[in-house]
Amino acid sequence: MTLAQRLFRTKPTERIVAEGGHGEGGELRRTMSLWQLTLFSVGATLGTGIFVILGQAVPKAGPAVVLAFVLAAITALFSALSYAELAGTIPVSGSSYSYAYATLGELVAWICGWCLMLEYAVSVAAVAVGWGEYLNSFLHALFGVTLPEAITRSPGQDGGIVNVAAIVIVLLATWLLLYGASESAMANAVFVLIKIVVLLFFCVVAFSAFQSGNFAPFAPMGVAGITAAASQVFFSYIGFDAASTAGEEAKNPKRDLPLAIIISLAIVTVVYVLVAAAAIGAMPWTDFNAESTEASLAHIADLAVGATWPGLIVSFGAVIAIASVVLTVIYGQTRILFAMSRDGLVPRVFQRVNPRRQVPIANTLIVAAFISVLAGLVPLGQLAEATSIGTLFAFAIVNVGVLVLRYRSPELPRSFRVPLFPATPVLGAILCAVVMAGLAGVTWVAFGLWMLLGLICYFLYGYGHSRLNGEVR
Ligand code: ALA
Repeated sequence: MTLAQRLFRTKPTERIVAEGGHGEGGELRRTMSLWQLTLFSVGATLGTGIFVILGQAVPKAGPAVVLAFVLAAITALFSALSYAELAGTIPVSGSSYSYAYATLGELVAWICGWCLMLEYAVSVAAVAVGWGEYLNSFLHALFGVTLPEAITRSPGQDGGIVNVAAIVIVLLATWLLLYGASESAMANAVFVLIKIVVLLFFCVVAFSAFQSGNFAPFAPMGVAGITAAASQVFFSYIGFDAASTAGEEAKNPKRDLPLAIIISLAIVTVVYVLVAAAAIGAMPWTDFNAESTEASLAHIADLAVGATWPGLIVSFGAVIAIASVVLTVIYGQTRILFAMSRDGLVPRVFQRVNPRRQVPIANTLIVAAFISVLAGLVPLGQLAEATSIGTLFAFAIVNVGVLVLRYRSPELPRSFRVPLFPATPVLGAILCAVVMAGLAGVTWVAFGLWMLLGLICYFLYGYGHSRLNGEVR
């Protein structure tokens, strides 16, 4: 076999599916129902985006930020449909990594898995970094006290030494995950219900102070403003694919994964549009401050009522919201590495399953340690954009994967098919490219370096240990 043949050799879909669930030493347990999977995706999605980024996007688009959320949702929807098709056809834990292995070959799969580390491990570290600030705004509103900045900020940020708060939330999530996937899903379900109720509470409060005059002029920055805001708020939709990492722990993956992905995106979109409309109705858009990292929703809720208790409830919602993002996204990262390890591309320790708990314990601990160090010691503010670019790249691969698999293996049983094929995945891939093109040059440089590092790792380890490659030697 030539080098190129090895690099682009695909893994047969039937084989990927047949290997599903099996780890070294034990099996994963199928415990997750449709609603748990749906709430898993909602848990991973609904977080800092709506609590913070909304406030930063409003000055870009004015009241038309509502449309920016719809535009970003449409972009996400095309990819979500493609995810749904592949998750229903290849229901394993590796998500887009496994789909790429089945369709575009090992090297692209590796690159995809490497990008998923940006979407999962790096982004969750960035999200955990912000948790301390929410905790502080909650504690301040409740007791009038705050934790010292030395332990709630990263080194390099004002006064920060080690972000202990970030480490604590990562460790709490890890503890739950070690308990079991089913227990984690239950806890996540409670967290998600709380955050949705808090956001609905925000809507009720904000709508009580609704001024329709706040919506005129509707789009003061024109179409350019709306698209710029849409690129920014796209971050808030990242995570709807999280259910696809639970393919080997879902009770009925072929039916439930596609549904969970699409329902979660629908829920999140409705909540975002409502919250954005309520926020603008309650506070003139010119009062939003792009620089503010303050929990803007809490501020608006306080203004709407003229008291401080509504903000307290909203801050509590943010603390819970981020906890559930951390929980579900760490889960996703461990399962992706699990699938990669089974293929030999990362060390075997990641596929070891504890036979009693039916959880990949070593894998979870290693991932948690890595994220804790990253979250505790590295100022990650700038990494949010890098997260988006990696995610968009993985989404683009999934769209292309749908096209390839339909042409190459039309006979495969598919529990869900994207409508209007091939227009949907083609548009999906193009939209991902457009949003990627809108990201800053420095983000592209960071992404290029990340990819380079990934290729080095692949050729130093993955290429030599790949099970698929080992079989042809
Ligand atoms: N969508 C996730 C959030 O907004 C990443 O926090």
